[in-house]
Amino acid sequence: MTSSARLVARVPINLGSRSYDILIGSGLIDAPSTWADLPQATTAAIVTDGNVAPLYAGRLKAALSTRYPKLMVIELPAGEAHKDWGTVNSIFDALLGSGCDRKALLFALGGGVVGDVAGFAAACYMRGIAYVQVPTTLLAQVDSAVGGKTAINHALGKNMIGAFHQPLKVVADIDTLCSLPKREVAAGLAEVIKYAPIADAGLLDWLEAHLGALLALDATALQTAIQRSCEIKASVVGGDEREQGPRAILNFGHTFGHAIETGLGHGHWLHGEAVGCGMVMAADLSVRLGLIESADSLRLKRIIAGAGLPVRGPSLGADRYLELMRMDKKAEGGAMRFVVLEGLGRAGVRAVPDQIVAEVIEANSAA
Ligand code: NAD
Ligand code: GLY
Repeated sequence: MTSSARLVARVPINLGSRSYDILIGSGLIDAPSTWADLPQATTAAIVTDGNVAPLYAGRLKAALSTRYPKLMVIELPAGEAHKDWGTVNSIFDALLGSGCDRKALLFALGGGVVGDVAGFAAACYMRGIAYVQVPTTLLAQVDSAVGGKTAINHALGKNMIGAFHQPLKVVADIDTLCSLPKREVAAGLAEVIKYAPIADAGLLDWLEAHLGALLALDATALQTAIQRSCEIKASVVGGDEREQGPRAILNFGHTFGHAIETGLGHGHWLHGEAVGCGMVMAADLSVRLGLIESADSLRLKRIIAGAGLPVRGPSLGADRYLELMRMDKKAEGGAMRFVVLEGLGRAGVRAVPDQIVAEVIEANSAA
């Protein structure tokens, strides 16, 4: 590391030959040493979006330029509404147009949309090329950049087209979070909060004490939250890379949340907002199934509301929610399955009768 770069944590993710490290710290983007262990490449491409490019692409380019003399920047339109085939194709156009071969290396510089789209393009281009995740939103640093899930949306469902493709490394430079709009900070906190009820009850106490500091972007609080989130995610993914079982708990609140996102049209609610509200619904479902006390569910709801996230779903109507949730990737043969809490800090997946799900929706969404 150069003197201005400070590496706070290195979290390993153990996946045999696909193992890699998540680097967390400040000034990491600018330090050539951050990138020194990456393979040589015929061409390197920084894939980013229209908001992130003017802030960080030049700095990353400067740090990479001695290592990768042939270096291009591919700028995508920002936002969830562009997480689609057209955007993936524009990456292929740029790579093919520049004669990139199988030894090209992609850097996904941005939030979860850039990470998912660039990762998916890397998984498909010439049947798979290497890529690095450089997440610049809180949500991406604690969740989407880690674990190798890549995807785009389909009009009929969120993240329906995708691939598992692990990056070579993840570089979470906390300094980049300073430019993040407040609404995006709150959305990122949803995925931090998620880890507490599913895997670490002690994290709930910590969040109650540090929510203000996180919202104020206190560097120490952010580092702790990002490191703990990545440790939990690395441990879950290390045990079930392709979601044959336990990895599904990382989708706590997402079945309801994805229905909200798709039902309203991608981009109306932020992903983290939909997940925050979805966790309120999933916790209420767990209460109705007799798995947790209502006091536990209310405690989680207070933390979610305290982060500035919505706790009441939009009025899509229970039937529409149910229709959308049958498309969920966890559904089997049309039967919906939900991640539920089996205690604070413990989660599992269960099939649930439609009637109970409808009650949850009616109790937790606008009339
Ligand atoms: P995003 O990528 O849309 O980024 C949010 C907004 O912030 C965008 O407008 C972006 O341009 C801007 N931005 C990014 N970094 C910035 C910075 N440092 N300063 C200022 N502006 C910045 O959204 P997101 O919340 O990062 O990611 C959401 C996506 O992640 C969803 O599509 C979701 O499905 C996906 N996701 C994937 C996984 C996974 O495991 N692959 C996990 C969780 C979420
Ligand atoms: N965000 C859910 C997962 O990575 O499995």
